[in-house]
Amino acid sequence: MAEAANTIKSLNGSALLEKFVIKGGKPLHGSVRISGAKNAAVAILPAVLLAQSPCVIENLPEISDVNCILKVMEALGAKVKMLSPSSVEIDPTNINSFVVTKEMAEGMRASSYFLGALLGRLNRARVAPPGGCDFGVRPIDQHIKGFEALGATVSIENSMVDARAQKLSGSSIYLDVVSVGATINIMLAAARVRGLTIIENAAREPHIVDLANFLNSMGANIMGAGTSIIKIRGVEQLHGTTYSIIPDQIEAGTYMVAAAATLGDVMVENVTPKHLESIIAKLVETGAEVEEFDEAVHVKMTKRPKKCNVKTLPHPGFPTDMQPQMAVLLTIAEGTSLVREGVWDSRFRYVEQLKFMGAKIEVDGKLAVVNGVEKLKGAPVKAVDLRAGAAMIIAGLVAEGITEVTEIGHIDRGYEHIAEKFRALGADICRVETDNVKAAIKNA
Ligand code: EPZ
Repeated sequence: MAEAANTIKSLNGSALLEKFVIKGGKPLHGSVRISGAKNAAVAILPAVLLAQSPCVIENLPEISDVNCILKVMEALGAKVKMLSPSSVEIDPTNINSFVVTKEMAEGMRASSYFLGALLGRLNRARVAPPGGCDFGVRPIDQHIKGFEALGATVSIENSMVDARAQKLSGSSIYLDVVSVGATINIMLAAARVRGLTIIENAAREPHIVDLANFLNSMGANIMGAGTSIIKIRGVEQLHGTTYSIIPDQIEAGTYMVAAAATLGDVMVENVTPKHLESIIAKLVETGAEVEEFDEAVHVKMTKRPKKCNVKTLPHPGFPTDMQPQMAVLLTIAEGTSLVREGVWDSRFRYVEQLKFMGAKIEVDGKLAVVNGVEKLKGAPVKAVDLRAGAAMIIAGLVAEGITEVTEIGHIDRGYEHIAEKFRALGADICRVETDNVKAAIKNA
């Protein structure tokens, strides 16, 4: 509680100047506690803007994306009070702006959720186009299609997405692609709109269900979240509530894969095993022993992993956000594995970095052919995006010798205390200032 001052911490700036130094080769042992889900938090926080009275959000992950969103909410006029490092009270009563500038939401994909939340609250939103990880083209045409179906006019002016409406009303929207972001944004915009909104071909990720549960706990009437048809019967007002975010499926999967890749033995605690089924299935194919408990998963690997093929798909398929971490495990597997990316156009930028460590991977469009090698060798590598960064850490833990991972600001966007959590499992990993910074400080 000592840290629970009424402040929002800034993590991004410093992390750009730091790197992780990892001495690999130690199997991970022990237990790790998983934090609240990033991708649920970044939807639920903007959703608070729809309430007429304060909300308390618990089990928030301590990550820079959350800090960034809380700062945007303050700038829009919300009162934000940290109650502990993982819980926050937000009073959205006096929202007085509908503008989220590029500077306010720099590098954050979830800034687009302010479009749906502000449109739903004020019938007006002007938001800088989302940034975030670079996977090639990241369109928002399905979000816009949804807002327009509800009666909004959407335009792009001075590089800002501008959505406005005299009055929104319920409508049927068929999504041409299964989009997490569009499903969430339409739920946000429609929760307080008169009439029935139906989203067909909706995304089914656990964080969509979590957002629906949160909105319903504020008095919304949303049915079908977790299936491909979501029905939203608009209500006039939403009230404040206290809500605890679900555990992070991808953070859990990251530690599970790290345990298997290092030939370790780890209890991953505070998880929802049902959300981890596709990850468990693939780990078992590689030879890992996985045991499920009510709120924990035990992962043990005693021999070199076996090859396995992976194809990423929307939930309940294998999550694209676990693709780079799983690929690292396969770099040291016996045999040749095929990894197909089925969600994003371009999610293999990290492969070049793994090759510096001795991995044998060839990429052809959305397919990576991974020829397992006996060992990876430590090397200087970059975190090219959030999950790629986590994959580089796993590679460093597996490799012989020293690995240095730079550009770790990406990792801090989505993983709470990652070095501390891996150290508690016996890993040799520390966060240090980069040489450039040390030199600048020395010369100052
Ligand atoms: C969410 O991104 C996640 N981000 C991503 O996780 C995740 O990779 C992705 O869903 C898929 O699971 C958050 O939840 C904040 P999408 P989102 O809309 O919503 C196409 C992480 O590492 N598409 O489901 O932006 C799009 O190009 C991040 O935590 C359209 O064509 O993804 C992609 O091919 C990275 N038009 C596919 O749909 C649209 O209007 C899925 O994208 C929207 C999307």
